Amino acid sequence: MIRVEDVQQNPQVEVLMQKVHEYLATMLAITHDEEHANHVANLSYRLLKMLDYSEREAELAAIAGYMHDIGNVVNRYEHGRSGALVAFHLLMRMGMPADEIATVIAAIGNHEERSGTAVSNVAAAVILADKSNVHYKRVRKQDEAAFTTRDRVNYAARKSYLTADPDKKEITMHLKIDTTICSVMEYFEIFMTKMLLCRRAANFLDCRFGLVINGNHML
Ligand SMILES: [Fe+2]
Ligand SMILES: [Fe+2]
Repeated sequence: MIRVEDVQQNPQVEVLMQKVHEYLATMLAITHDEEHANHVANLSYRLLKMLDYSEREAELAAIAGYMHDIGNVVNRYEHGRSGALVAFHLLMRMGMPADEIATVIAAIGNHEERSGTAVSNVAAAVILADKSNVHYKRVRKQDEAAFTTRDRVNYAARKSYLTADPDKKEITMHLKIDTTICSVMEYFEIFMTKMLLCRRAANFLDCRFGLVINGNHML
């Protein structure tokens, strides 16, 4: 059985992930490095475990979470879809069974808010883990005047984490934002599409989705 460690230690995966980091750096896009990959892998895994899904499903979520941004090696746009195909080839070579590959690549291909849908438990977990990783340290630009909206939203986020309550059937995203950089309302507006995707993902896992910004329940 292919484990997340096998994927992380695969030399081809390593090179491709390094290239993603390198190429995105040329456009000063927010970081999609090893740290982000590991964060999404760990959180996707923990989320499914906390909600009592099987060990294998959680492991597949970790694998999909680790590889979810690999498509940026092809192009930043539609990197979910290109990433799914890149992962398909890598995992085939590693000998992963087809039904597991399908689970992993569907999650990768559905993690972007423009075209993503929580099509499985694994896909739902990856969406929630990825979208909750907003943090000022991911912003690469030094010059605030050059910030895109996405940079500003990330820059304003001082802390972000996700909690899951299996009894209450609730998944909650907690954000602490610096309102001198971005107001709560502005933040909420910009984050609307991401949050709607998260809500649908939480619903897929039979949970309610909650959003708490600076201690206020927004959803
Ligand atoms: Fe992505
Ligand atoms: Fe990501």
